Amino acid sequence: MAETKLKTDVFSIGAIDWDRRLFDELIPLPDGTSYNAYLIKGNEKTALIDTVDPTKEQVLLEHLSSLGINSIDYVISNHAEQDHSGTIPKILKAFPNARAVTNAKCKGMLMDLLLIPEDKFVIVNDTDILSLGNKTLQFIMAPWVHWPETMLTYLREDKILFPCDFFGSHLATSDLYATDEARVYEAAKRYYAEIMMPFRNNIKKHMEKLKQFDIEMIAPSHGPIHNKPGFILDAYKDWISDDVKNEVLIPYVSMHGSTDKMVSYFVDALMKRGITVKPFNLTKTDIGELAKALVDAATIVIASPTVLVGPHPAAVYATYLANALRPKTKFASIIGSYGWGGKMVDTITGMLGNLKVELLSPVIAKGYPKEHDFTLLEKLADEIFNKHKENNIV
Ligand code: FEO
Repeated sequence: MAETKLKTDVFSIGAIDWDRRLFDELIPLPDGTSYNAYLIKGNEKTALIDTVDPTKEQVLLEHLSSLGINSIDYVISNHAEQDHSGTIPKILKAFPNARAVTNAKCKGMLMDLLLIPEDKFVIVNDTDILSLGNKTLQFIMAPWVHWPETMLTYLREDKILFPCDFFGSHLATSDLYATDEARVYEAAKRYYAEIMMPFRNNIKKHMEKLKQFDIEMIAPSHGPIHNKPGFILDAYKDWISDDVKNEVLIPYVSMHGSTDKMVSYFVDALMKRGITVKPFNLTKTDIGELAKALVDAATIVIASPTVLVGPHPAAVYATYLANALRPKTKFASIIGSYGWGGKMVDTITGMLGNLKVELLSPVIAKGYPKEHDFTLLEKLADEIFNKHKENNIV
């Protein structure tokens, strides 16, 4: 995409990465992503807000060139992660008078990660302003979305919030704005689950703080821009609330069919009770979809066979991930099978320390499940149904 004008003298000049399929060597990117950067030309000074992933630095430089930019005074760094900061050294080299503007914490991280010299920085604090002449930037410290140094930048005259990762989505699209709301909602929810969910309580505080700002546009550093900010603000309000949905998430793996039989029986039992069920076969699933389902589910039931006395490694991975993402899930249980013994339940339970969940009775079958095991699965489905009902989870 070429550079694009958002308002008078405000431009989106980042890069779309249509082909990227993995982020941090961890997060699947089925829809690619973008690294958005923004240029603001005041009548006295020019500022660049964030840069792009180093693999796309040429795109950023070409956009600056096609706008005829031969001077940059400030590079605002909202976040030190390299997909936004990685091209700052190149910009500081191409524009030797430019200074990197950020908070003290971020400065330290940029020096550590990118070896930027200390004399290249201007340090700002919460509520500080930076005048570009007829345009004014205000800085809002917002630590832990999702690193400790994160901040947001607000352009007063145009009422645009530049929140970097916050409110973003991994979505490569030719749409400048979030016009296809259904598609952007799913991508933004997945992004929230993967990146922001562990910091839900910090995000709650930052959302409160943002109420004092008149925001007409939210221009994040990934995915489309929100020119109707109510859409993404409402979505975030829902995701960060304490409310959960009448849903049971079942990450599962089966080796010889015993656990698979229990899962399929249990899915039916829950469906008969009017509960939405989301089973994820861990040998096939996109882990991002599993993370997204964790945003709302009231209950998680991990299903695994016993391997070398413990859970199957795929179940360990899913449990570790669920625990690390700290969803607001309220109930958890374990189902599965074993051949001659083991500590599968103890191992999985011990990995759920971050979750504030009530543990419900596990159901573990010896070998292939039999009538007795199906009766216990019916009981567990009843217990989940009753817990959801008692807690007004609909
Ligand atoms: Fe898009 Fe935290 O970097």
